[in-house]
Amino acid sequence: MQDLMTKIISLTKQRGFIFPSSEIYGGFASCYDFGPLGVELKNNIKKAWWKEMTMKQENVVGLDAAILMSPKVWQASGHLTAGFADELVECKKCHHRFRKDFLEKDSCPDCKGELTEPKKFNLMMKTFVGPIEDENSMAYLRAETCQGIYMNFKNVLNSSRQKVPFGIAQIGKAFRNEITPGNFIFRTREFEQMEMQWFCHPKEADKFFDYWREERMKWYLDLGVKKENLRFREVEKEELAHYARRANDIEYKFPFGWKEIEGIHNRGDWDLSNHSKNSGEDLKYFDEESGEKYFPHIIETSAGADRSFLAFLSDAFCEIKGGRTETTESTKEAEYVLKINKSLAPIKVAVLPLVKNKPDLVKKAKEIYQMIKSEFFCQYEEAGSIGRRYRRQDEAGTMFCITVDFETLEKGDVTIRDRDTMKQERIKVSELKETLKQKFNV
Ligand code: GAP
Repeated sequence: MQDLMTKIISLTKQRGFIFPSSEIYGGFASCYDFGPLGVELKNNIKKAWWKEMTMKQENVVGLDAAILMSPKVWQASGHLTAGFADELVECKKCHHRFRKDFLEKDSCPDCKGELTEPKKFNLMMKTFVGPIEDENSMAYLRAETCQGIYMNFKNVLNSSRQKVPFGIAQIGKAFRNEITPGNFIFRTREFEQMEMQWFCHPKEADKFFDYWREERMKWYLDLGVKKENLRFREVEKEELAHYARRANDIEYKFPFGWKEIEGIHNRGDWDLSNHSKNSGEDLKYFDEESGEKYFPHIIETSAGADRSFLAFLSDAFCEIKGGRTETTESTKEAEYVLKINKSLAPIKVAVLPLVKNKPDLVKKAKEIYQMIKSEFFCQYEEAGSIGRRYRRQDEAGTMFCITVDFETLEKGDVTIRDRDTMKQERIKVSELKETLKQKFNV
């Protein structure tokens, strides 16, 4: 299965989805950059999540809080204490470091050397704010986006006239000084989270936990992830994060095994009560109808944008041994098709003149490209044989290829080729925009 991962990583680089960060200097410790197609795919994932959580759901509003916050936030949230630390062990021989809970044996996986006793290692990333680098100017890059939401609980409540139950959604970068990042973009030190915090009456917490768990699983399924590659995992009591009363992970079957892509957490009143106590600000909610005053309990849905990127990509990746039999030029080598959901596909439509040395054809193809590019993310490509261009577009996950040929000049129609079925239809250029709108349901 590592072989499959190698193929996915190689395709993502060749097609401009993901590049190693600072590559010309030899890369930089599990940091990655999203290339032209990667940024489109990631933006499409984030847009789909935002639409699902804020527009389709009732009573969920958005927020974009600062990454840097008062260090007091992290003191109160428990992240600066033992709660947010992993156990680190070091090999006495080769000095490689590992997370203790990731090791299957008590010896070094690299050289079989003896390991040190475990030490607690806090995962918060430190920085300094202002010109003087001392204890007083020390700050932290946020380790989870949700703390910015708790900081604004009262602001949102008062400014948007919400009533409990309601939710606040946010997408943004988070940072953790992971001991063992790895598996490509699965575990990195800088990543993006898509989090929603649902504030509810304590008596309704279990009901909403079940509701959000189902909703979140449905989101992946609706976006085409195969059912057999998704499952829930009830997190054991001893594994629960310091803030959680209960947690269910949504796991995806990656080429390297079943792993968490999203956590649904019942955080109880941990956050609001601790921030109340430490800040002196009363974060209780007053219910005007019942006259009751209480700390709302929080149900959190916390998804990784990068991890779900990798899940969508792995799920869509198809290797067709011997190639597809579309053109006589097929090399009979393995071909790759990214059968990604059409709303996530980075390139929606590619416009291809049949040949590039006929000025009339090229001119027409460019006109068609100009006509549709403002409504559908579109690529114009003229280099190479038509068969090879179809292959390239299939690898990028492009939904439709529009081919402009000699008949186009005579009859005013083009062929539109479906990525997955390879079926080609002829469509009038005058009906092209409408046809594409129907195909993309827009
Ligand atoms: N606010 C709760 C929270 O942060 P978490 O289970 O630690 O919960 C939630 O993280 C999600 O964030 C994970 O399911 C994963 O998708 C993503 N995530 C966490 N650590 C990550 C890392 N080092 N690299 C990439 N994604 C990560």
